[in-house]
Amino acid sequence: MTIKTIDRSLAAITKQVATKLSQVKTLEDIYAVRSEFTGKTSVLTQLLQSLKDVPTEDRPTIGAKVNQAKKEIESIIERALSLMMNRESLLKDEVRDIDVSAPFHTNNSKIPDFTGIGSMHPLQYEINRMLDIFTTMGFTPFEGRELETDYYVFDSLNMPKEHPARQNWDTFRTEDNLIPTPHTSNMQVRVMRHLKAAPLRAVIYGRCSRNEAVDAVHGHTFYQIEGLYIDKGVSISNMIGTISAFVNAFFDKNVTSKIQPGYFPFVEPGIEYLGQCPFCDGKGCSSCKHTGWLELVGAGMIHPNVLREGGFDPAVYSGFAWGLGLDRMVMQRNGIQDIRSLFASDIRFLQSSL
Ligand code: DAH
Repeated sequence: MTIKTIDRSLAAITKQVATKLSQVKTLEDIYAVRSEFTGKTSVLTQLLQSLKDVPTEDRPTIGAKVNQAKKEIESIIERALSLMMNRESLLKDEVRDIDVSAPFHTNNSKIPDFTGIGSMHPLQYEINRMLDIFTTMGFTPFEGRELETDYYVFDSLNMPKEHPARQNWDTFRTEDNLIPTPHTSNMQVRVMRHLKAAPLRAVIYGRCSRNEAVDAVHGHTFYQIEGLYIDKGVSISNMIGTISAFVNAFFDKNVTSKIQPGYFPFVEPGIEYLGQCPFCDGKGCSSCKHTGWLELVGAGMIHPNVLREGGFDPAVYSGFAWGLGLDRMVMQRNGIQDIRSLFASDIRFLQSSL
């Protein structure tokens, strides 16, 4: 082997590789070409091994040429391999005839057939139930919004700046001075302006946040369902009847209840609707702070200022509104003692809860 002959031999080998590759049909064929031309017993390897017989002064030049040719050949083969892999996987897909509507493991043999059954989160399950109950009572459901302006959280609800009742809601603020809403009442004026006409019957479910220390019965994040009913001649007994009908349907029994005055700036008069504690049947326990009663719903007759803000003339229309804490009611119905388990993602709780 001399410098003169090496170029010719390498060119011949490269040409041979190209010819062979032009005839391959499968990946296996290409692997065969690869081992023939770059494997341990290949001509190229033999050429490299025979370098020792070449005159010393020619060795570096000839060595470099052989290595260069080897690299080129390897890269041609790699390219052929990747083209063939693409082609084969396209062909396989055609043959496999994927059913995109099949269960997720059907098209992938590596995933076991059975991975266990999931279940709906208890909160979602109960939100759906509550909305079903309200829908059958003629209320239209809306989703609340989580980030809200000062105006809808407070001003529109008869709480202008400096109103002391603003302090009842310990809000978080974003850097842009938006409020992760502390109640779903922020939706009252929004929904009134959206629906415009009476009779207006709407329920709004949504996530709320308050700057609260977390314990077994308080979360900084929780859910509420707000309700609104506006028409001519709506009375406080309509309100009590509506709330009672809902509470009884939700708990699936006639809940012994009572009403006491409550203060909320957006209603006049305002009430708290209490149900007898289901954990102790009214005898008194730690869940009801030994009073025998649990506050289920805050409600009242919509304040004239709020009606006006929403575009309804309080001289013509009246209405009621309520807000209920969903998590607490879900806990009471399902005997869940700690509100934190609703957010802890503990699979044992999630599997046992419903
Ligand atoms: N927004 C009140 C709260 O979170 C609950 C509430 C009370 C809502 C009375 C109402 C209402 O619509 O009329 O504490």
